[in-house]
Amino acid sequence: MEFRRITGLPPYVFAHTNALKATARAAGHDVVDFGFGNPDLPSPDIAVEKLAEAAHNPRNHRYSASRGIPNLRLAMATRYRDVFGVELDPDTEVVTTIGAKEGFTHVMWVLLGPGDSALVPTPSYPIHLAGPGFAGASLLPVPVVDPALGGRDPGADFFDAMHEAWQRATVKPRVVVASFPHNPTSACVDQAFMAHLVDFARSREMVVVHDFAYADLGFDGYQPPSILQVPGAKDCAVELYTLTKSFSMAGWRVGFLVGNAEVVAALTKLKSYLDYGTFQPVQIAAIVAMNEARDYPAELRATYQSRRDTLISGLERIGWSVAPPRGSMFVWARIPEPYRAMGSLAFATKLIEEAHVATSPGVGFGDGGEGYVRFALIENEARTAQAIRGLRRALPELRA
Ligand SMILES: Cc1ncc(COP(=O)(O)O)c(C=O)c1O
Repeated sequence: MEFRRITGLPPYVFAHTNALKATARAAGHDVVDFGFGNPDLPSPDIAVEKLAEAAHNPRNHRYSASRGIPNLRLAMATRYRDVFGVELDPDTEVVTTIGAKEGFTHVMWVLLGPGDSALVPTPSYPIHLAGPGFAGASLLPVPVVDPALGGRDPGADFFDAMHEAWQRATVKPRVVVASFPHNPTSACVDQAFMAHLVDFARSREMVVVHDFAYADLGFDGYQPPSILQVPGAKDCAVELYTLTKSFSMAGWRVGFLVGNAEVVAALTKLKSYLDYGTFQPVQIAAIVAMNEARDYPAELRATYQSRRDTLISGLERIGWSVAPPRGSMFVWARIPEPYRAMGSLAFATKLIEEAHVATSPGVGFGDGGEGYVRFALIENEARTAQAIRGLRRALPELRA
């Protein structure tokens, strides 16, 4: 059968590593799994209790509001004010989404169509590369960091590359996608970068869509900036915030699009046709999480930071040096020189089969991902130490 929209998608390389993981497990191996950024830490108890209570009330079983109930949008606006010092009008500048992923996909639909294009950093979280195409638009990939410059975080060269892509484009881009702390590279930026990004977009009449999935995951005192902290950013920017990583509520599917009121209104309108909103008890529990478990993100952050330290110091001990990320829940590790030529898919395969350690091959994240593997910090310290022992066994050339 012939299909639309999905035929141009590259083969899902993670399916290959998932299958290998399943085979290793079926053979009785205990695979330490850093493959999928699926948080293992529990959601806040108070949210779970509220969900159970609200689910017993039949009034909550009906369709809810697709844009999110007012108190949920208010709780989001309050969090932005308290954490980022950004004022949002919960009625016009906040819409609830079914996670950031759904929000991202559908905001592309209202911003882009056939004949349009979008600037998207690469390597990238896969939907950032696929979303413009689902909306019928073309993609203008821009390297996040130039490995030739040895950089970890994007700087002036990122804007040079963006400008070049913009100049080369036959169809002038309408949208620029950004997401920092970044998945998969864990690149982080500061407020000056965000101000530059806003300037870049505004002067070229583009909308910035900033996916802020790791808003609360900055380490060693680093607080990732919201793009909306830039004065005047609301003229041209929207941001996606999600409870998935900040509150470890991945399965609940609660996210938001906030910022420019026109874009928020456009997505709200589209969503009023597409969905009836998240199950209302989930929305009620999300309000309680944001209002009454305010410090939960800080606890999660400490856990991820400790896991990062265990992984980075363990890798260092076996001769695999990786600089510690300042944010996100990932370690983006360059494949050590003796193994680099095999490529990320073969290297990730070797790690599963011989070390019983699952990672994500960089090639699965698009251009610029080759030569790296991504560790998601979803295993605790003891399991991470076990992984290091497996890696030491499987990578003898590190010590050669
Ligand atoms: C950059 C980025 N955006 C969005 C998501 C998914 O967020 P949500 O669960 O809110 O859809 C992820 C999850 O890994 C991510 O890395």
